[in-house]
Amino acid sequence: MKYALASALVLQSTVVLGNLLPVHFKAPTAQHFLDIVRNDTYDFGCRPNAKATDDGKFTLHALLTEDQIAYLSKEYENVADITIHRLDITKRAATAPIGTGDRFQAGAVTPSGLGTKASGSTISSIMNVKEIGSAVQGLVSAYGVGTVTLPYKTFNGATQTAAYVGAGTDKSQYRLYFSAGMHARERGGPDQIIYWVSDLLAASKAGTGLTYGKKTYTNAQVKSVLAAGIVFFPLVNPDGVTYDQSSGSLWRKNRNTKSGSSGSSIGVDINRNFDFLWNFRKYFDPSEAPASTSPSSETFYGSAAASESETKNHVSVYDSFPKIRWFMDIHSATGDILYNWGDDELQSTSTTMNFLNAAYDGKRGALGDTAYKEYMPAADATNIKSVAAKTATAMKAVGGRSYTSMQSVGLYATSGASDDYAFSRYWAKPGANKVHGFTMEFGYSTNFYPTLSEFNQNILDTNAGFMDWSLAAIAVGLD
Ligand SMILES: *[C@@H]1O[C@H](CO)[C@@H](O)[C@H](O)[C@H]1NC(C)=O
Ligand SMILES: [Zn+2]
Repeated sequence: MKYALASALVLQSTVVLGNLLPVHFKAPTAQHFLDIVRNDTYDFGCRPNAKATDDGKFTLHALLTEDQIAYLSKEYENVADITIHRLDITKRAATAPIGTGDRFQAGAVTPSGLGTKASGSTISSIMNVKEIGSAVQGLVSAYGVGTVTLPYKTFNGATQTAAYVGAGTDKSQYRLYFSAGMHARERGGPDQIIYWVSDLLAASKAGTGLTYGKKTYTNAQVKSVLAAGIVFFPLVNPDGVTYDQSSGSLWRKNRNTKSGSSGSSIGVDINRNFDFLWNFRKYFDPSEAPASTSPSSETFYGSAAASESETKNHVSVYDSFPKIRWFMDIHSATGDILYNWGDDELQSTSTTMNFLNAAYDGKRGALGDTAYKEYMPAADATNIKSVAAKTATAMKAVGGRSYTSMQSVGLYATSGASDDYAFSRYWAKPGANKVHGFTMEFGYSTNFYPTLSEFNQNILDTNAGFMDWSLAAIAVGLD
C-alpha cells in the first residue's frame, strides 16, 4: 500500500549540487518509507536509513532532482502521513576546498595528522587524487610502510595500491583492514585513514600518545594498535573521485561505461558489486530492492558479481593478507557505525537459515517477518555489537557530533556490500579466515561535501573511532 505525501512541499531556496537536491522525508513510522525506498531511481546515499527523531517520528534523507520531487509530491498528495522537506543549505559555509598541486611533494613531505598536533590545529583542504598517492609515498619514505600494487587497473587505467604497517614483513601477521573512497562523493574518507596512520607512526616514534578533541590515547595503546598489523586501501574508487572532484556533481559510482555511456548511466556502485547475494533478484523477496539492475541507478550492481576492478582489488587484499580478522569500510554520511548483516535481520538460532541455503531464495530482505533472518553465531553477534558500541561511544566522546551503532540492515536490506562480503567469506570460501565487517558512516546526513570545519571535525571523530574500534577488536581477539 502506498502512504500519501501530505501537505505541500516545504519550499525554500536551495543551492543545487550537481542537479541533486538534499531533502528529507518525515513520517510516523519507518515502514511508511517502504514504497519510496523500493524505487531505485532515487538516491539515498550509502543506503536508505530511517532515523528516529526527538518528536517521535522518522526521517529518511535523500538526494532528488526537481523532477523527482515534483513526481513524489503529486504521487502522494492528499494524505498527511509523509512530508518532504528540502534542506536549506543556503546558510551553510562553503564546502572544503580540494587541494591543488601536491602538498606531499611526491612523498618528500611526510603527512602529519591532527592527533599529534596542538589542539585547534586544522588541515586546510581535502586531498586530491594525486595527493592521496603521494601521502602514502610519504609514509613509505618516512616510516618504511609497505605497499602492495593491486592486480587490476581501473576502467580509466589507474593502478591501485594498498599499504600495510605495524606487524613486519610477514603478511599473515596483519589483522586489521581499512578501506575508504569507495563512493566518490563521500569526501574526506581517504584523508581520515591516511592522517590516522600518520598519527600512529609519529606517536609511536616519538613515544607519545594521541589526542582527538576530548579523547586521549596512551603511547602503549598506539603501539598495541600498530602491533595488530594495519592494512589500508585509502582510495578504492580513484576514477570516481577524480570525476567528482573536477565536476562537483556528487558522483558516487565508478566510471565504467560498459553498461551505459552517458550521464547517470555511467558507472557501477562498487558497494553493491561484491560477491554476496549479488544476484538479488534470485535471492531476495521480489518486493525488496537491495540494489539495482538499472545502469542509471546510484545502486547499479554491475554486470556480474565482482565485475569491477576496484571490487576485485579490494578482495585481493584478503588473499594477500590471509589472517585479516577485522574490516572497516569508511563511508559517509549518517553518523553511524554499522555491523553485519546487511541483507536481513540477524539470528543466532538456526544455522541452516543462511545466505548459502537455496531453500531461502526469494525470501530474503523483508524485515519484521519470520520468513528469513541471516545466521550469525551468538558469540560473534555479541562481540561485534560491543565493538561497534565502543566505537560510537569514542566518536561521541571527542566532543563533536553524536554517533550511534546499529546493524547494517537498518530498516532496508542491501546486497553485494563490502562489509557483508567480508563476513561471508568464512562460510562461502573453504579455508578463508573469519572477518568481521563494519561500515563507518561519518558526518551528517546527505552532507557528502563537508565544510572545512566539518572536514576537520570528521577527522577527529573518525580517528578516535578507528582507535577504539581497533582497541576493542584487539580485546575481543585477533586470532
Ligand atoms: C520511481 O519514481 C519515478 C519518478 O521519480 C517514476 O517515474 C517511476 O515510475 C517510479 N518507479 C516505481 C517502480 O514506482
Ligand atoms: Zn558510501
